Amino acid sequence: MAGNWKMNLFPSTAQDLVESLAVEAPKHTQVIYFPQAPFLGCLQQWNLGKAQFGAQNISSQSSGAFTGETSAELVHALGGQFTLLGHSERRTLFGETSAQLQDKIVAAWKHQLLPILCIGETLEEREDERHFEVIKNQLMESLHGLLPISADLILAYEPVWAIGTGKTASVEQAVEVHRFIRSVLNEMQVGLGETTSILYGGSVNAGNAKELFSQSDIDGGLVGGASLKIEDFRTIIQLQDECLHA
Ligand code: 13P
Repeated sequence: MAGNWKMNLFPSTAQDLVESLAVEAPKHTQVIYFPQAPFLGCLQQWNLGKAQFGAQNISSQSSGAFTGETSAELVHALGGQFTLLGHSERRTLFGETSAQLQDKIVAAWKHQLLPILCIGETLEEREDERHFEVIKNQLMESLHGLLPISADLILAYEPVWAIGTGKTASVEQAVEVHRFIRSVLNEMQVGLGETTSILYGGSVNAGNAKELFSQSDIDGGLVGGASLKIEDFRTIIQLQDECLHA
């Protein structure tokens, strides 16, 4: 269960949140925090329990004259174990392309970060019934050059129209796309659809978490707004943990 804090939280509030949630570590659920880059290294000093953390984005370059960028090597050196890649906010606000993401996945693997590649369609694309095509293209463009894939990769399906809008995908819509993603992965490489975890993100909250995470095709969540609130995130983690136990 990943909490993407986006450009929110100061270290003091974040420390309260993670240390309060560390008190009752879930038995089956891996919790991952994604803070803003400048205080990523602080999380290594805090009591996270069994939780881990990572970067919201990394550079595709190893090091050098790339002002404003963060290297995978530094994230790893600061104790990070994951990186989000291709979040729709990075794609739409910062022009990140699926082709660039291929290089970022390579950079993540090179420095022992587990990439969580985000994919998903806009409202317009869904209304035009082009969502399957868009998702397939995103997968092909980012992953095709990496085949055969032997390193770990996590995918996150985040329909753009569900992010921060309070409008969650229905369970049927989420499961349908997760199954489609598995079938595209299997077309690309036999078995890849079964070995890859797929998270759902987009207005996950304490009220809809149980229904979403009790689906066998939904392996976990990428939570934005609700991961900033201790009680909400605690409930979401507990519900996911019960689903994994059941
Ligand atoms: P919300 O949970 O706020 O909709 O954000 C989802 C998201 O973008 C997580 O990466």
